[in-house]
Amino acid sequence: MLGAGGGGVLGGRVAIPSIYRERKRNQINGEDREKIRRKVAIVTASTQGIGFGIAERLGLEGAAVVISSRRQKNVDEAAEKLRVKGIEVLGLVCHVSNAQQRKDLIEKTVAKYGKIDVIVCNAAANPAVDGILETKESVLDKLWEINVKTSVLLLQEAAPHLQKGSSVIFVSSIAAYQPPQGLAMYGVTKTALLGLTKKSLEEKTLLNRLGTTQDMAAATAYLASDDASYVTGETLVVAEECNLDSNFVLWCCGATVNEVRHDPISTYDISHFGGCPE
Ligand SMILES: NC(=O)c1ccc[n+]([C@@H]2O[C@H](COP(=O)([O-])OP(=O)(O)OC[C@H]3O[C@@H](n4cnc5c(N)ncnc54)[C@H](OP(=O)(O)O)[C@@H]3O)[C@@H](O)[C@H]2O)c1
Repeated sequence: MLGAGGGGVLGGRVAIPSIYRERKRNQINGEDREKIRRKVAIVTASTQGIGFGIAERLGLEGAAVVISSRRQKNVDEAAEKLRVKGIEVLGLVCHVSNAQQRKDLIEKTVAKYGKIDVIVCNAAANPAVDGILETKESVLDKLWEINVKTSVLLLQEAAPHLQKGSSVIFVSSIAAYQPPQGLAMYGVTKTALLGLTKKSLEEKTLLNRLGTTQDMAAATAYLASDDASYVTGETLVVAEECNLDSNFVLWCCGATVNEVRHDPISTYDISHFGGCPE
């Protein structure tokens, strides 16, 4: 999963709907979890699977979640599953390829909650397992359309409503880094999301500030937590877009997990540098 967090299109302050003021605190495993309380999160393709899991988790942490998928029945059932857990949810039909339904997704979210804080572009398709040279044009079109193009179009639709601090998250895949046999073109579309994350971040999320010790601490707390138990051998860069020509990027954090099998202790090597690259 690749997130392009922070920044966004600047907008005015929005009134917080009364539903949040009166909201009772949610609990996960007995702990108070309200990290994203008061945020409004749209998750596409979210009536089952990873999208539903993301919506449920964000909802349990206090966000109002907007779930969607192609079928009304699936939307209704998934919305009800979330509501019984005390999650504030709006369920909408949205086939990500349908321009009117994408527009409705954004407009109905803003009409109900007054803002958008998080968009998770989760929809994807993998209609064939052919090698690249055998992949039919219709399959290429569908892969591009669902996995890449609709994420761009949804982002364009949402952009006027994004504000400082909004997050845009594209759900990619390990196949993005090394497209495997049988998932070759799917992997290539997921690789495209890496570029999309970088470029949309460049256009929308220049923070123009230094990193803080709290930024480093938050990343370390995540890596040290059970939430990061499936994150192994990765480097997490905590920094504004690294542009060595700019004077803005001043603080990076590398985090390396050296997980030893049969050893319950994982080590995290945190390093940072400050100062403007010469
Ligand atoms: N599963 C994995 O192992 C894995 C690994 C790496 C990355 N990913 C990525 O994770 C994301 C979710 O995968 P998943 O395995 O959780 O999917 P999934 O279980 O197949 O879930 C599909 C969901 O998407 C909805 N959906 C399907 N096509 C849609 C469309 N065109 N527009 C809107 N909604 C649509 C479905 O509901 P309706 O039928 O009602 O539309 C359903 O809610 C994808 O981006 C995938 O590439 C998955």
